[in-house]
Amino acid sequence: MEVFKALRRYWLKCIGCGREYPGSSRLYTCPSCGDLLDVVYELGDEVSRIPWLKNYDLRPLGVWRYRELLPIEDYEKIISMNEGGTRLIRCRNLEHELGVREIYVKCEGDNPTGSFKDRGMTIGVTKAIEVGAKTTICASTGNTSSSLAAYSARAGLECVVLVPAGKTALGKLSQAIVHGARVLAIRGSFDDCLQIVKTLSRDKRFYLLNSINPFRLEGQKTAAYEIYEQLSGAIPDRLIIPVGNAGNIVAYWKGFKDLRNLGLINHLPRFVGVQAEGASPIYKAFIKGADEIEPIKDVETAATAIRIGNPVNWKRALKAVRETNGLMDMVSDEEILQAQRILASREGVFTEPAGATPIAFLIKAVREGLIARDERVVCIATGHGLKDPDIIIKSSRKPVEIDASPDHVLQALDAQRKPFKTPSISS
Ligand SMILES: Cc1ncc(COP(=O)(O)O)c(C=O)c1O
Ligand SMILES: [Zn+2]
Repeated sequence: MEVFKALRRYWLKCIGCGREYPGSSRLYTCPSCGDLLDVVYELGDEVSRIPWLKNYDLRPLGVWRYRELLPIEDYEKIISMNEGGTRLIRCRNLEHELGVREIYVKCEGDNPTGSFKDRGMTIGVTKAIEVGAKTTICASTGNTSSSLAAYSARAGLECVVLVPAGKTALGKLSQAIVHGARVLAIRGSFDDCLQIVKTLSRDKRFYLLNSINPFRLEGQKTAAYEIYEQLSGAIPDRLIIPVGNAGNIVAYWKGFKDLRNLGLINHLPRFVGVQAEGASPIYKAFIKGADEIEPIKDVETAATAIRIGNPVNWKRALKAVRETNGLMDMVSDEEILQAQRILASREGVFTEPAGATPIAFLIKAVREGLIARDERVVCIATGHGLKDPDIIIKSSRKPVEIDASPDHVLQALDAQRKPFKTPSISS
């Protein structure tokens, strides 16, 4: 393995008042004004070691291919499971059916624990070790807890996760449990859970790894670099991303801006953030042209991963869509679940409901003429469908049980020509 010790400088900068703090400080928000912190860099010559668009055998596609753009001191000490390097697949069946020139899906369910969260956790948990933490903590709608539990286990750290009781998909809960996290189901929403962990993390015993931790987004931004390389240097016209707490859309925005600052691209894709109808405070602020969101107390959606009423990263999410001439939209649960089946039945990609929101938007946008036919569109399928199998089983006909003979199989097939209804895009 190539030994790498970082030479360049990085520090934390408040997105509100602009005050700066050392990169080694254990801060989640600005001590002066309370706003979020961003990691900023002074890049040295070493950044030219990133072999953009070549040498995949020496440095495979994945988060650590871009180590010179990440805030880590010692590459030999990273906690990694080879995260990133997820497939960007072309969806020719959907292109044909929707009449859009190029549609790609970035399969973030390929990550070690089945969601994009692993990109951030490899950095976040490495940081936890760097600052000498013993216990990690997070609030989660599910995937953050799976990922933090796995990376903490690998790092030998204790892990505490708070999830909203009765609102977390079973696959995600089972991951947190099997990786040895202490899982607490809170009678309240994700937003209540986050408030509690923010309070607890004032105590140095707990290292907070929600996306207010600025280091998480640094790992997540690498998905933008990968898309640039996977498209051989072409820029998507439009990037469509599910939005919950809004960290991931901000991370992609940062990633594409980095590519522009490095002179690799000359403009950014138009960003589309998609929320679920029952949890859409950023969309509501966007259509009102408001500069603030109004948090929503009673959120509800089948896409439990994005069941968030008071998103932490709303300010930069609004900026990302406004500055890229993009937009925020919302889709109903019915549209989400239909899109989930359409992606699975047309392209073989099984993503969880939240991950299907970009496809739901795309179908709606084509129908309403909001998207040009000659666009190159990239949809981010943020988590694997097996995270939440119940949602499919509950709404599907159960497999028929028959006796064990070829005749019974043929009879059953005759009796039931089309066992599963594949949704039509036009309906
Ligand atoms: C599958 C999935 N999609 C989307 C999101 C939303 O990401 P963010 O909270 O960064 O907006 C989450 C967050 O938990 C998720 O688990
Ligand atoms: Zn500040």
